[in-house]
Amino acid sequence: MSSPSSFADLYNFPAWSKDHFTLNSDGEVAVLNPLDPSAKPVSLYGIVEELHSRGIASPVLVRVEQFLKNSIDGLHSAFGQAIESAQYKNRYQGVFPIKVNQQSKVISNIVEMGRPYHYGLEAGSKPELVVALSQPLSSQALIVCNGVKDAEFVELAMMSNRVGFNTIIVIESPKELDTIIEVHKRTGMKPRLGVRIKLTHRIQGKWQESSGDRSTFGLNTLQLINIVDKLRAHDLLDCLVLQHSHLGSQIPDIIDVRYAVSEACRYFSVLKSEGVPLQYLDIGGGLGVDYSGDKMASETSINYTIPEYATNVVETIKYALDEAGISHPILVSESGRAIVARSSILITNVIEDTRYDADEKPVVSAEDHHLLRDLADVERYIEENRLQECLNDAQYYRDEMRALFRRGHIGIRETARGEEIYLYLMARIKRSAMTSENLQVLEQLDQNVDIYHCNFSLFQSLPDSWAIDQVHPVMPLQRLTEEPTRKAILADITCDSDGKLENFIQEDGLKFALPVHRLTEDPYYIGIFYVGAYQETLGDLHNLFGDTNVAVIRLTDDGFDLVHDTEGDTIAEVLSYVEYDHKDCLENFRATLDRAVSDKRINGAERRAFAGFYRECMNGYTYYEL
Ligand SMILES: Cc1ncc(COP(=O)(O)O)c(C=O)c1O
Repeated sequence: MSSPSSFADLYNFPAWSKDHFTLNSDGEVAVLNPLDPSAKPVSLYGIVEELHSRGIASPVLVRVEQFLKNSIDGLHSAFGQAIESAQYKNRYQGVFPIKVNQQSKVISNIVEMGRPYHYGLEAGSKPELVVALSQPLSSQALIVCNGVKDAEFVELAMMSNRVGFNTIIVIESPKELDTIIEVHKRTGMKPRLGVRIKLTHRIQGKWQESSGDRSTFGLNTLQLINIVDKLRAHDLLDCLVLQHSHLGSQIPDIIDVRYAVSEACRYFSVLKSEGVPLQYLDIGGGLGVDYSGDKMASETSINYTIPEYATNVVETIKYALDEAGISHPILVSESGRAIVARSSILITNVIEDTRYDADEKPVVSAEDHHLLRDLADVERYIEENRLQECLNDAQYYRDEMRALFRRGHIGIRETARGEEIYLYLMARIKRSAMTSENLQVLEQLDQNVDIYHCNFSLFQSLPDSWAIDQVHPVMPLQRLTEEPTRKAILADITCDSDGKLENFIQEDGLKFALPVHRLTEDPYYIGIFYVGAYQETLGDLHNLFGDTNVAVIRLTDDGFDLVHDTEGDTIAEVLSYVEYDHKDCLENFRATLDRAVSDKRINGAERRAFAGFYRECMNGYTYYEL
């Protein structure tokens, strides 16, 4: 038998779990404290069971506080070290883009953990600016305002400077400058400004379209020069203190970072020589996450570490600006994904399975239809060199039998037995193909994997998986000392055929099906990792499944503390999002009950019980409840 860790290896676990998860001796995935490597690992399975006992049911999103702190500390120490070793003569001062995870607890944690570093926030909209201004940021911390801005947005940003925030309005388009000038003239407040430059370098990866000439944001060279001239003409050039560019998220190849940063430096030098008093060089987001742990430039991985990213950025800027004889600016980045992705894990329970093979062969008698007997007879010649023939024959007899059923020549019970025989044959053929390593046959059977029906909504909790085929590490949380003998795709509980996961990170690359254990009476939990970035806020209410329960945990010396929990949406809440009044619903249902009483279909006691039950459902969780 393989060693326990080898079953976790199937999921490429050692590669992507580093310093954050391990496998305990019970074969369960356990959480490590990255800030205290000597601390005892805490079983995720145990965490879920404990949460259940406290009434926090799955699906549940578990956030680990120490993971967040570790990534904030890690980013700052990477830039700190890169600055020191390159002898860069200024500092790094990052901002967290609120859009990447807007949840209030996440933002307040980030602000608190980032205070020693004067970590700021990036706001891409008015509501996000409203959030930023409600936070106890350090007075040095930046608030970088990106996105399309109306006069109200601009005025709020200018006002925030008057009360002590360090807010910078990044000009995204020529029209925006007109708005800024108008607000300045009307209110007499002076803005602090940035310019967003559209770099020509195009990155590879899923966010290719946000880079290059055709990207939707930022100023081209002509627009930039016009803006500088206009600011000068309005005596506002001294307000322009920041240069910004953003290449797109999840940049797979470090070489693209180098090219883009050197292009940004060229603009920086030119603007400085035009007399623009720039103090900050903001390189945007894009720092990727190694979802698969493969350490290569691909859609699921990146070919660099955070310290390597910081070194590349700092060195490129230093050399480019030294050559141009320009003093080093404060270096800003807007990394979102790399800060929060790892800190959340979505945990779902498998409700049931649909299998495409069978253990037992139904009995066939001489009275059965000959197609059924022919089908059953295939078992007789399942042998190494006839597997393809068996597969062909089984397929043919099954399809013929279905055709007869459609035409009414064979009954439903016989057909059902035929289907079961077919599934039994598939299991037998597969076993034989595995023993004889017949890859051709195995490949054909590979599509016949199980479906594990899991308690979550892809559209609510993993929207990027649906929209842009984002792949997250996924694996069972328990029984990893036992060989997973089944393979499955994971279906969610929405009534939508797109609501499924069928692309999984494994040790030998991305695979269509996930190795899983046969279900037993005990709950079977599956963890979906690295879901802290973008997923929580892009999610929608498909089938009216709402937010899941959330548990924020702090790892302790001998387990964990539940620091905070947020109950997932109730049915009444999601109904209100789509403009239903739950009281109206209740009233309408009661009227139906009253008619049923009048029609003598139910009695008074039943009416009371039914109305109570409806109200109870209304206040319940939107997901499958055990
Ligand atoms: C302007 C801007 N800054 C920062 C980010 C965050 O990028 P990432 O999550 O890749 O760090 C984004 C997201 O695409 C963005 O549009």
